[in-house]
Amino acid sequence: MAAKIAPSMLSSDFGNLASEAERMLNCGADWLHMDIMDGHFVPNLTIGAPVIESLRKHTKAYLDCHLMVTNPLDYVEPLGKSGASGFTFHVEASKDNWQELIRRIKSKGMRPGVALKPGTPIEEVYPLVENENPVEMVLVMTVEPGFGGQKFMPETMDKVRALRKKYPSLDIEVDGGLGPSTIHAAASAGANCIVAGSSVFGAAEPAQVISLLRKSVNE
Ligand code: DX5
Ligand code: ZN
Repeated sequence: MAAKIAPSMLSSDFGNLASEAERMLNCGADWLHMDIMDGHFVPNLTIGAPVIESLRKHTKAYLDCHLMVTNPLDYVEPLGKSGASGFTFHVEASKDNWQELIRRIKSKGMRPGVALKPGTPIEEVYPLVENENPVEMVLVMTVEPGFGGQKFMPETMDKVRALRKKYPSLDIEVDGGLGPSTIHAAASAGANCIVAGSSVFGAAEPAQVISLLRKSVNE
């Protein structure tokens, strides 16, 4: 599985988003992870389509959008227009309409993914992966969504292992508390898309951290 290293821009200086994005790409980032929160699904409020649209004017990078929102369907149209690349919604927020969501996300030219919180059983995403119009990535949250800088929850690795066993070629993303001390657990469980916020932005040499994350996935 190809490694995708995705610095979480939540840990960047939002006042200098375009230059922070460029800095991460120069440090070897594959994707830019964009955390979209609505202050309702999670107790924090971040950015939305207008900011994605502004950033898009400065970069061609893959914008990996993670929707921590109660009504993901409302975001498909504006995010599609803004130039988002990936649209990952939460399974907890799409119990009744995930089929419609996947359809609409694809029709806007974005790549659909599904995320799940640490307490949500992995079985809940199987129907979305096995659907005839499936999601193309599963994001296993390794912290409670809402904030950067939290501690990695190793117990979530059982879910990554179960997914990898069932779907050998699926993109599996992990998000929360990933860095040099936790990457081995995630990579050996089978994750290939790695989101990292504080460990990358807090490093003196972000390029070294990104290359270490990549090496661990490729081992
Ligand atoms: C948390 C977000 C993450 C967060 C990760 O809800 O989904 O993307 O920014 O930050 P770190 O890597 O600092 O845990
Ligand atoms: Zn995220």
